[in-house]
Amino acid sequence: MNPVSLPFVGATNARSKKATPIIAVSKASLSKAIGSFPAPQKKWIKANGYTADSGKILVVPDEKGAISAVLFGTDDAATPLNTGALAAKLPDGCYRLQMQGDLHGAALGIALGAYRFTRYKEHKRSKVEFVLPEGVDKQRLFREAEAAYLARDLINTPAGDMGPDELQSAMRGLATRFKATMRVIKGDDLLKRNFPMIHAVGRASASAPRLLDMKWGRAKDPKVTLVGKGVCFDTGGLNIKPGGSMALMKKDMGGAANVLGLAMMIMAAKLPVRLRVLIPAVENSISGNAFRPGDVLPSRKGITVEIGNTDAEGRLVLGDALTLGDEEKPQLMIDMATLTGAARVALGPDMPPFYTDDEQLAGTLAAASTALHDPLWRMPLWKPYNTMLSSKVADTNHITSGGFAGSVTAALFLQKFVEPATRWVHLDIFGWVPAAKPWCPVGGEAQGIRALYQLVTERFSTA
Ligand code: BES
Ligand code: MN
Ligand code: ZN
Repeated sequence: MNPVSLPFVGATNARSKKATPIIAVSKASLSKAIGSFPAPQKKWIKANGYTADSGKILVVPDEKGAISAVLFGTDDAATPLNTGALAAKLPDGCYRLQMQGDLHGAALGIALGAYRFTRYKEHKRSKVEFVLPEGVDKQRLFREAEAAYLARDLINTPAGDMGPDELQSAMRGLATRFKATMRVIKGDDLLKRNFPMIHAVGRASASAPRLLDMKWGRAKDPKVTLVGKGVCFDTGGLNIKPGGSMALMKKDMGGAANVLGLAMMIMAAKLPVRLRVLIPAVENSISGNAFRPGDVLPSRKGITVEIGNTDAEGRLVLGDALTLGDEEKPQLMIDMATLTGAARVALGPDMPPFYTDDEQLAGTLAAASTALHDPLWRMPLWKPYNTMLSSKVADTNHITSGGFAGSVTAALFLQKFVEPATRWVHLDIFGWVPAAKPWCPVGGEAQGIRALYQLVTERFSTA
């Protein structure tokens, strides 16, 4: 996909020497900052009515009319990623950040904000560059940006060009680059090898359903398994979605895109883990052979599942993939999925809920989420709601009949496919930014993968 080039130059670069300072100012520090300018600039700043509102930029000229400095409004509550707006708003040139605090976050904001989806349309690239702030780990910055760019590119690519075949190619690309092994179980082989739910969901598509399975690292290292929902398009199946709800469903492989991004970070950093990535890659389509409401499906786990609604397909394909992942007893299993609209009702598009019964893991992940400006919020695997999943004809239903706690009950359904002893966390992500942010244009988005990467490093930092 997009080769990633970030708008940074090293401190020793000739252009860095003449870089224009970007001075971070808060409402509290504004008068002091103004005080340090000569009289004409003081006048200019005041004449512009600049009050250091968060994210507000003011270019300050020198006596000859050239740019002498840039003021950038911040406040304590603002995320450092707000710097993402700078590249798009500043005139061409080389700049250096003159600010305190989280410089890595500030640089990351710039890196993430520079992303554009260019597959079908040229985007004018500005010639704005920044001196890499001192002390910022360039490799880490690059890993984080590259992973987010990958996830965004995969999600933004429409289903016509990002079906199960292309998702498979994306994993293949990573496997080749990082010398991982990869196996694909496809079409009727899914039945032979006992993945009945993945097959049932994907069998109506012209592109065969499959399970993508990549392994990387040394066998003796702790096993970390990532599972991502790879529904390349979700029509809803026979319970067809209305047009408005279907419009964005190219993003229903957002979980897969995110775990591939996370896997890329882990492999690029050579973390001492034996990584496995499982992606059920399917299209939830409509055809004569589509699975139906009322069908009862067998599952890899052995439990029978009554189909309440063919639009709750994600949890079915994940159920079989989680069962497989669990069979080798990984030390940590993480799944990511654009699983429910209900998660958005609860927390909105920017704050994915995560679910785990492991208190320590929950604490580490929540702390990492805050520290890395990668929003996540814990929601409960509330066992009493399991009764809502009961079925009269099968071991379980996969949906509930009432409209309550939709994201929680989806998570509870997934939990049926994971042994209680397994350390497991599930993220119900949106994978999309509906209104542009300084660090992300409207479109696909990576959510939670920096926090998850931190969780993996904290847990398995030494082999
Ligand atoms: N992919 C959707 C969930 C979704 C919708 C995520 C919109 C993000 C934005 C999922 O397959 C789905 O359709 N879920 C249903 C479940 C319901 C039928 C129990 C939902 O959330 O409405
Ligand atoms: Mn669906
Ligand atoms: Zn779906």
